[in-house]
Amino acid sequence: MQEQPAENRRPDNGSVRSAADRRGGTGLLCREHAVDIHSHTVYGVDDGSGTLEEAVELLRLDREEGMDVVFSTPHFGIENGYAPDARLVASRFSQLEERAADAAPGVRLYLGTEWYCAENIVDRIRRHEAWPMHATDYYLVEFLEYQEMSEPAETMIRRLSAMRKAGYHPILAHPERYRAAQEDWTLIRRLHDDLGVLMQVNAYDICLNTKARTRDLAQWMAEERLIAFIGSDMHGLPPKRTPRMREGIQWLYGHTDPAYADGVVRRNAEKYLGVEPLPAARSLDGSLPSPGR
Ligand SMILES: [Fe+2]
Repeated sequence: MQEQPAENRRPDNGSVRSAADRRGGTGLLCREHAVDIHSHTVYGVDDGSGTLEEAVELLRLDREEGMDVVFSTPHFGIENGYAPDARLVASRFSQLEERAADAAPGVRLYLGTEWYCAENIVDRIRRHEAWPMHATDYYLVEFLEYQEMSEPAETMIRRLSAMRKAGYHPILAHPERYRAAQEDWTLIRRLHDDLGVLMQVNAYDICLNTKARTRDLAQWMAEERLIAFIGSDMHGLPPKRTPRMREGIQWLYGHTDPAYADGVVRRNAEKYLGVEPLPAARSLDGSLPSPGR
């Protein structure tokens, strides 16, 4: 395996490790009442679910993973191959809500978009070409993530800066997957600290992804408290990406502190994205997690 550049090596953070060890690492399982802010569950508008039935099944599976709330965030950006009409998206989202009430009870749905963060992203937002996250000023945005098509750090900084200057709040989708971030982890800190970009990590990437460069970056972001939200980024039934949330959530509770993990798993979605308050999660033994536990 290629060795990480020196600046990317994980700091020897004894307090994080020992806290996890004290709790037995995986002893807590506070996975219910969680919010998945990233899914491709509006059918037939991108490379996500192809039918209403498939979308409903995804929601049912996500519910089994402990999700109370799911954001439907179809791709939008012709560069990524998808530019669905916003009204079509809204009408299919309504269909999904209607069906999910019976077929996936217990799941609340919110509408958003995964915008491709194009050079003219601000103009696209101003033209209301797609939806923000549940009628807020927060926008889930992505860059190209394939090795041969990935975008350099300067491009990411320039476009995210333009959004912030225009008064919009970007949420960066799965930063752990971008080559520029994997090659220099400090890019994430710059975007977070200097630009106020909030980060959404795919829960799967935290401990299930077999690519070490992706998993290591996701875990470092958690240890450095740089993650604001988690998502499944579920696309469909196999062989597409299905929701895998519980292991990542369990890792967060085992390796960070309960207050931070609660924020990532649900409270930040209430704070920033207009999600109605959710009950506190309980761990397997029925106790409520408390700061300092
Ligand atoms: Fe996505």
